[in-house]
Amino acid sequence: MKPVKVGLLGLGTVGTGVVRIVEGHQEDLQSQVGSPIIIEKILVQNISKLRNVSIAEGKLTEDPWDVIRNPEIDVIVEVMGGIEHTKEYILEALSLGKHVVTANKDLMALHGPEILAKAQKHRCDVMYEASVAGGIPIIRTLVEGFSSDRITKIMGIVNGTTNFILTKMSQEGASYADVLKEAQELGYAESDPTSDVEGIDAARKMTILSTLGFRVNVALDDVSAKGISSVTKDDILYAKRLGYVVKLLGIAERQDDAISISVQPTMVKHSHPIAAVNGVFNAVYVYGEAVGETMFYGPGAGELPTATSIVADLVAVVKNLKLGVNGQHGGMAYKEKKLKTDEQITSKYFMLLHVADRAGVLARITQVFAEFEVSLESVLQQPNASNPEAEIIIITHDANKAAISKVLHTFETLDVVHKVKSVYRVEG
Ligand code: NAP
Ligand code: HSE
Repeated sequence: MKPVKVGLLGLGTVGTGVVRIVEGHQEDLQSQVGSPIIIEKILVQNISKLRNVSIAEGKLTEDPWDVIRNPEIDVIVEVMGGIEHTKEYILEALSLGKHVVTANKDLMALHGPEILAKAQKHRCDVMYEASVAGGIPIIRTLVEGFSSDRITKIMGIVNGTTNFILTKMSQEGASYADVLKEAQELGYAESDPTSDVEGIDAARKMTILSTLGFRVNVALDDVSAKGISSVTKDDILYAKRLGYVVKLLGIAERQDDAISISVQPTMVKHSHPIAAVNGVFNAVYVYGEAVGETMFYGPGAGELPTATSIVADLVAVVKNLKLGVNGQHGGMAYKEKKLKTDEQITSKYFMLLHVADRAGVLARITQVFAEFEVSLESVLQQPNASNPEAEIIIITHDANKAAISKVLHTFETLDVVHKVKSVYRVEG
């Protein structure tokens, strides 16, 4: 019954939740792992800051090596965020034989292979369930639950902040700036929310999910990412009128052995289950060749949901410790990476165009689509009293990304097309 001692790096939103769960659920945790789990030391930036949980005297420190090089500590839980310092601390902890649990998708997306290799060398666990989709156990699902299947598509809402913003803009007509401020106050947003709103946070999460799902080492640069800062109230309104909602979707697809991974604001058909995922909730759709369609839903950020995943990882590490089987990361990415070309990436598209309101314009526009073999599902001219131009909405059938780029490029050269107001991928 020797206690397992934990060093916590960070006592912000998530760190506070970890303390609450480890202390509040101690009896249950102890029954599962057979030892008490004790938080021995906590690294913070400012020791004098007022905390939301009471911490025994002497546990807080501003010196990282007090935690990382502490011989009493068996497991490091990293919830401070950032990349450079964090990587140094984690690599040092691993070289000292300490296991690591982290919520840090930035670090795992950029340096995951190096960290996992180091862990394997030192027979240590590195677990990072909380790094994607907060409280949803999606990493364990991909690695263990689908180990028997071949995954062909992972599609998800994996950023809580942007889903919270889009939901409030869509349902309450709220302004982008006000909702972002609210998400920050609720502890959902990253310390620099640019990574949330520009799709970088979601791209990092899709790097992790696609690496695990396709068993290929995906790099962050393999993910094409676009955020929500260009989504307008008008786009949301048009989407609504046509039976769609705008969601920031991460989409990873595999066809034969070629994969593509992207993050972009997407028009999702109202009837699709992912369209109903609102607020800070996340959802991940996983399609497997054998299993078919599955969906995992839950809170994607916030103190206790995120801490739930972290403490579950902690339990897994301690169970491995008891069995003496830590550090078995083998076989996670064993396939060769082959990225799809733009000609191989297909989907439906929505376009809103402002065009000259005169005879023959519609015919000229549809001719451009025909030239590049893009077939149209619907074409709609919207009356808009405040706009002397015609507003044309087009939804294509499945078209490849290269052909759509050529269409858009040609529109730039046509005097009848005054502006391509928006282009969205369409799902559902
Ligand atoms: P946070 O509220 O900003 O807390 C960060 C904590 O780390 C603070 O306690 C801070 O100390 C400490 N810290 C930061 N830099 C440090 C440094 N250089 N040296 C020592 N201490 C340092 O962040 P968070 O929201 O809890 O997020 C933590 C991690 O979890 C991030 O990687 C984030 O991406 C990930 N994550 C967050 C959520 C969420 O919902 N928030 C969900 C999933 C994953 P002080 O308190 O003294 O300032
Ligand atoms: N900022 C992230 C989000 C936190 O909003 O989803 C959870 O990773």
